Amino acid sequence: MLKEYPLQKVFTLLEPGPVLLVTTADGRKKNIMTISWSFAMSFSPVFGIVTGPWNHSFETLMKTRQCTVAVPGADLLEKVVGIGMCSGTDTDKFKKFTLSAKKAKEVSSPLIGECLFNMECKLEDYVEEHGILILSCVRAWENTTRTERRTLHAVGDGTFVADGEKFDLHEKMSEKLPFS
Ligand SMILES: Cc1cc2nc3c(=O)[nH]c(=O)nc-3n(C[C@H](O)[C@H](O)[C@H](O)COP(=O)(O)O)c2cc1C
Repeated sequence: MLKEYPLQKVFTLLEPGPVLLVTTADGRKKNIMTISWSFAMSFSPVFGIVTGPWNHSFETLMKTRQCTVAVPGADLLEKVVGIGMCSGTDTDKFKKFTLSAKKAKEVSSPLIGECLFNMECKLEDYVEEHGILILSCVRAWENTTRTERRTLHAVGDGTFVADGEKFDLHEKMSEKLPFS
């Protein structure tokens, strides 16, 4: 079951730096890539990912100026790595990794039904020198039915960490937070 997720909370999905899946669609074909380089920029639903023309997804993203950014749970680790090790030029990754493409509301790129969250995004800006794409999330969804709620974090050497203990200091920070 996909439940709409408030845009003012979207930055909290990115701030912990989870491994992401980015979907694109060029009208004929839909595709997925894995992204571990991402960053929240403010309390707004605007954030950055880093990629470039060496990926097939990049071409579609630049052409359509749209994508969907999904947050997979730790149970999807094998699929997440597999998706990042092959190319949409010769592989239907939704089929190969048995993931369901769900229709988005504001963009043509599909949501991934098995992910914890999906963010429908428009491309705001591209900083070519650094491969930075600034995305603005226009609608977000939470899959409330997944039992595995931990997200994944790439170390960068082929190892991954799943979310661990959570420390709650929100009362101490409350005057700096947009909501409590
Ligand atoms: C764990 C993991 C993290 C990755 N992170 C990034 C990233 O942040 N930026 C990037 O450009 N490529 C990243 N990649 C590589 C792309 O996901 C990979 O090149 C993918 O096959 C591109 O698919 P496409 O050609 O179908 O678009 C990552 C791959 C893996 C396995």
